[in-house]
Amino acid sequence: MLSQKTIVITGLTGQVGKPVAEALATDNEVIGLARFSNSELREELEAAGVNCVVGDLGGGEFADVPSDPDYVLHFAVAKTMSFEDDLRANSEGTGLLMDHCKQAKAFLHCSSTAVYQPNGRHEFAESDPLGDNHRVPVMEAFMPTYSICKIASESTARLMARTLNLPTVIARLNVPYGHSGGWPLMHLEMILADQPVYVHSDGPCVYNPIHDDDILRQIPTLLSIADVPAVTLNWAGKDPASIEEWSEYLGELVGKEVKFERSPDLLESVTTNNDLMHSLIGETQIHWKDGMRQMVEHYHPELGS
Ligand SMILES: NC(=O)c1ccc[n+]([C@@H]2O[C@H](COP(=O)([O-])OP(=O)(O)OC[C@H]3O[C@@H](n4cnc5c(N)ncnc54)[C@H](OP(=O)(O)O)[C@@H]3O)[C@@H](O)[C@H]2O)c1
Repeated sequence: MLSQKTIVITGLTGQVGKPVAEALATDNEVIGLARFSNSELREELEAAGVNCVVGDLGGGEFADVPSDPDYVLHFAVAKTMSFEDDLRANSEGTGLLMDHCKQAKAFLHCSSTAVYQPNGRHEFAESDPLGDNHRVPVMEAFMPTYSICKIASESTARLMARTLNLPTVIARLNVPYGHSGGWPLMHLEMILADQPVYVHSDGPCVYNPIHDDDILRQIPTLLSIADVPAVTLNWAGKDPASIEEWSEYLGELVGKEVKFERSPDLLESVTTNNDLMHSLIGETQIHWKDGMRQMVEHYHPELGS
């Protein structure tokens, strides 16, 4: 765990960034940059010791953000449906933030395995072709800019690492979940509501879920491998699991039968080859079954025995 550092965190009102910011604020000076449109989240973060700074990445005004923090953890992602706005916030915003914090020791840019061109159950390695895995009807309906903006912002991070000589690591996250929710929690709620779990027609739909605690634990090692040119790696749970498998398991835990509905209009499998990740930062420690059992206990303690 990092201690006594100055750390700028973006995206800290989001699923992935919030638990990270709260945990790091116990022993570091954490400056959190977001728009804080949800004032309750701001209050919770301030109560945890985070210094909250209001700012819009697309605006590029970071006057109250230190230019020389030890580290920057960039988790923010804009998903407004507008390519113009999202490229501005995600791609330009990443560049402007890196420029502002150019004296940092390391910059962690959180990306996504949504940057890979869909290819069935192929295990995606970092050198595999990139593509728009959100160009399917269901994702186009509410996150049409996602994959393209993640690819664009990776490019910006690569460019700025070299331009500024700022050690950078680009971590392509798979399926984060845990005490701050995530996709498996959505499936759990569907199962509890007797709704079907929607999966791609080409099942099983395999991913590599990664627990919040593994994400937090691996951040110091990720920062330690930041370099110029930027290092890019997958950031994923060691054990693959399909949506079908984890939904059946969640159903077992809460005593519900799981119904699946298949459609070609949904996201396909995105499972990863984690060789590079394991060689650079090691393996995750929390098996998805343990993590998902804890998630059920956290969100639905009333269902416990
Ligand atoms: N969740 C997943 O399943 C998943 C999977 C793979 C990769 N990832 C990656 O993990 C990272 C975190 O994702 P998440 O799911 O935690 O995100 P999220 O819950 O959607 O939260 C998005 C965050 O970005 C901030 N943000 C959005 N637009 C902004 C802007 N214009 N200026 C400043 N801040 C802005 C939001 O803060 P305000 O609204 O308060 O400004 C919020 O804190 C992202 O890089 C994402 O691509 C996530």
